[in-house]
Amino acid sequence: MSMGELGKISRTSGEKFGSCVTFGCLSQASAPGQISYETLKEELSLTHQKLLEEADKKHLYLIGFMGTGKSTMMHMLHETTGLAMIDTDEFIEQQTGRKIREIFAEDGEEAFRRMETECLKKIATCEASIISCGGGIVLREENVRLMKKSGVIICLEATAETVWKRVHHSDSRPVLNGNMNVEYIQGLLNARKPYYEEAAECHVPTDSRTKEDICKDILEQFRSLNTYRQVKKGK
Ligand code: S3P
Repeated sequence: MSMGELGKISRTSGEKFGSCVTFGCLSQASAPGQISYETLKEELSLTHQKLLEEADKKHLYLIGFMGTGKSTMMHMLHETTGLAMIDTDEFIEQQTGRKIREIFAEDGEEAFRRMETECLKKIATCEASIISCGGGIVLREENVRLMKKSGVIICLEATAETVWKRVHHSDSRPVLNGNMNVEYIQGLLNARKPYYEEAAECHVPTDSRTKEDICKDILEQFRSLNTYRQVKKGK
């Protein structure tokens, strides 16, 4: 058993590290670092509360602009960690039986954003998963709150040029239809930057990097942000 400040930590963190023995003194301390029963009670209840909150933060949410590689990395992380995976766009398409572009065309963007919120509410009750989020999910405050409460949020980043290179062949993104050029993408990236900043706990650049390198980076960040629930398999 350590003394001084270190002793204080080791005595109060029994719950976290799995020990069932914790010391608090009822009268005067007999060695440096011993703490009073009242302080110990307070420290333990704070630790306990924190652990309960952290235990709820089970998911790894990948956010970021279209074409930053969220789906690709979700698949790779799923294979590396063994955690389940959920793509919010696919989830909504399965639930509604319609394509995202049909939902935008028939019901409008606002209706789609509400569906994203409903999707996140359901995801919160699922087992720990890697979640690839639609690029605009951060635009609703409620969505960010739901994600922060149930997981760690990591933002993938890419320049407008890289995004364009990755998405310009596809017509499945209604937000870019008719505006598929670097200038428009740059404008939208600028407008959304504060939302990604507010939501994410860390940012991972993806330009000119291999998938393996990005995956390793994400896992390192996730492990350091998610100290309570360690990723099972991992490399
Ligand atoms: C959107 C991004 C898309 C999809 C929808 C809207 C956006 O997802 O949710 O077309 O507003 O950025 P990806 O980021 O997976 O392309």
